[in-house]
Amino acid sequence: MTDFAEFFLPTRIRVGADVAKDLEGLFAERGVRQLLVISDRGVEKAGILRIVLADLGGQIEILAPFLDVPADSDIDLIDRLAADLRAREAGGQSIGLLAVGGGSVIDTAKGVNLVRTLGGSIRDYQGYGVIDRPLGPFIAIPTTAGTGSEVTPFAVVKDGREKTKITFVSPYLAPQVALLIPPLTYSLPLSLTVETAMDALTHAIEAYLSNDHNAFADALAVGAMKMIASELPVLVGLLKAGNEEGVKSARTKLLVASTMAGMAFSSALVGCVHALAHALGGLYGVPHGLANGVLLAPGLRFNLRAATQRLAEVGEALGADRAGDSIDSKALAAIEFIEDLSGRLGLPRRLRDLGIPRESLGEIAQAAVQDGAMFTNPRQAEAEEIQAMLEEIY
Ligand SMILES: [Fe+2]
Repeated sequence: MTDFAEFFLPTRIRVGADVAKDLEGLFAERGVRQLLVISDRGVEKAGILRIVLADLGGQIEILAPFLDVPADSDIDLIDRLAADLRAREAGGQSIGLLAVGGGSVIDTAKGVNLVRTLGGSIRDYQGYGVIDRPLGPFIAIPTTAGTGSEVTPFAVVKDGREKTKITFVSPYLAPQVALLIPPLTYSLPLSLTVETAMDALTHAIEAYLSNDHNAFADALAVGAMKMIASELPVLVGLLKAGNEEGVKSARTKLLVASTMAGMAFSSALVGCVHALAHALGGLYGVPHGLANGVLLAPGLRFNLRAATQRLAEVGEALGADRAGDSIDSKALAAIEFIEDLSGRLGLPRRLRDLGIPRESLGEIAQAAVQDGAMFTNPRQAEAEEIQAMLEEIY
């Protein structure tokens, strides 16, 4: 643990099947008269927007929603949406923003909220401490469990021209309110359920191993690890068996756990697995959760010697250790637990299964060492060492 820690969570969280009923009041108390929903076509087709917006419209005018957020949130799209919004707001009141979706939707809305409030382009706000005041009214409703973006101070945005993913950081980026509505996640397909849950598990484990770990984040990370490790295999079993009633409890716990993992890495940050996932997403469009799912066990093995004690504690949280195990055995048990879990969840084991050419491994390693997530990774590594690890799992 470092001598210094800052832990700040500005987001008010409500959990429950009916909390969307609070939306009108939550926006009204922020002076909102008009509301723009940012979402995607998948969320709309699943009937989720209809459920969320059912009780809105009394005092607040709902503008035509923006439903074309792509799989990765995008710099140019954010600038375009924000400029549109600023034009509509000219001389009037702030329009409320409601993000309903997964990480890309929420990160897009974070970017739009930033630029519509402060102006310019999102490219102007790279770096830490650049955003110096609160942004406009913004509420997020996650539909996956998940990225944790509903509570984090980060927006990860793809720069299509440079083929990189840029992380924007500020407590002001976090939504003011997050509504966790478990029934919205009931119909999430199996593959997306697995990938987004592995993203959440990676947040919890990397936050725990981070050089910036602190006692506040640790408690949330351990809580999230325990819930995900026990609920995810149960949920996948129920989904495969078509047990729609049984999944409800596990879905609820996973949604809460993913938000807790988001709270943990909001202050402790992440590590090499995320650095690599950002590189794979930026260069080859590999979905974020899938990249994390494939890289989590190899990334832990890469960190084994630099973080043995902490990894042993991860093993305990996951329930992977046996009584009387040494620290080394507990740390190894954590890695083996993740390998076994990934196998049971049907995740690919090799990088070649993600459609990445072998000759790109050097470029991926180079991008990863330059990624901000690498700064808090327990093992400081050169690109060559990362590349050697990638060669091993290709
Ligand atoms: Fe992530």
